[in-house]
Amino acid sequence: MKGLILSGGAGTRLRPITHTSAKQLVPIANKPILFYGIEDMAAAGITDIGIVTGQTADEVEAAVGDGSRFGVNITYINQPDPLGLAHCVLIAADFLGDDDFVMYLGDNMLEQNLSGFVDRFVDAQRSLSEPRLLDGPGDKAVPSAQILLCPVPDPSRFGVATIDAAGHVVDLVEKPADPVSNLALVGVYLFTSAIHDAVAAIEPSPRGELEITDAIQWLIDSGRVVSHEILEGWWLDTGKKDPLLESNRRVLESLEGSVRGDVDERSTIDGMVIIEQGASIVNSHVRGPVVIGADARVENSYVGPYTSLADDCIIRDSEVENSVVLERSVISGVPRLVDSLIGRDAKVERSDLRPKATRLMIGDDSSVGLV
Ligand code: DAU
Repeated sequence: MKGLILSGGAGTRLRPITHTSAKQLVPIANKPILFYGIEDMAAAGITDIGIVTGQTADEVEAAVGDGSRFGVNITYINQPDPLGLAHCVLIAADFLGDDDFVMYLGDNMLEQNLSGFVDRFVDAQRSLSEPRLLDGPGDKAVPSAQILLCPVPDPSRFGVATIDAAGHVVDLVEKPADPVSNLALVGVYLFTSAIHDAVAAIEPSPRGELEITDAIQWLIDSGRVVSHEILEGWWLDTGKKDPLLESNRRVLESLEGSVRGDVDERSTIDGMVIIEQGASIVNSHVRGPVVIGADARVENSYVGPYTSLADDCIIRDSEVENSVVLERSVISGVPRLVDSLIGRDAKVERSDLRPKATRLMIGDDSSVGLV
């Protein structure tokens, strides 16, 4: 079993942050989203992993390296233009060979780990011999693919599946205007080598992409079995600010506190708080769940629940809550910053605590909420 993680694309929805960084490298609880997927594969025993990269290939390669620190081997596969998820499989053909593989979308976050999902697919392959064509309803043919589904309130944002009475996947549509079910495709797929014929056979969709949804439909139309499981626990497609903050909340809730930095005697720390080496908390109140990165400084401030401050941030004379602040940014004199995603090397400053005016330098595609 190999792994294929898709980390290409341009990430336009998280601009301006993703003007300078891959959306898959935006941190959740101070760890890039992409790392959760790699760690999950490693925990499922998958050590041969291909990563598809796009415009942000250099950054992804610099962050992940050769994979040795995760205990895996990484092969990079460059995709110059984001021509679709099935196109990723097409260009990864040499890396994948005839092996079964798990494909994982690099911007998805899942609570459920991969091991059980992968094990059940492997067991199905072992218990029945060669993949063969489906004879009829209830046939126990070896699945050529296994997908993970989740009931959602807004299925038209996703690939949507229909399941028949026998539990087989019979129909898949990408982002339908009128969804026939509420079962969305989660960004984790298991495939046998049968998928290679499918990705070679399909045509680009109206949005100009080779859709993996169409490739799986092609398998079904060719009489092959596609099995499914319903996701356990939460799942978030992190490509926008609010789901990203929600992922941050969920992950922070699952962590254990540890204080390696300095907390002076005038400061108080409550709840689950991680304070990394070299960070200093001065005359401040930190109320978890919170993670504070290495060499960050929090001074005369309140840092409230569900906040992640990356390495080298400075929070001074401010209140910050339910927010993600990336490396080296400075928040100073801000009475209350909530529900915010602050990029790297950013400055949010007020000259005094009762401003008469707001002075801004805002980049393209920024979003500023003054409340
Ligand atoms: O999040 C689940 C959804 O993901 C599924 O329900 C849909 O069926 C599936 O098509 C996909 O939809 P999205 O529109 O959300 O996919 P997105 O373009 O965001 O790409 C997902 C990941 O794959 C992301 O990390 C970028 C990467 N990617 C995407 C494309 C189109 C590539 O590496 N290359 C590509 O060509």
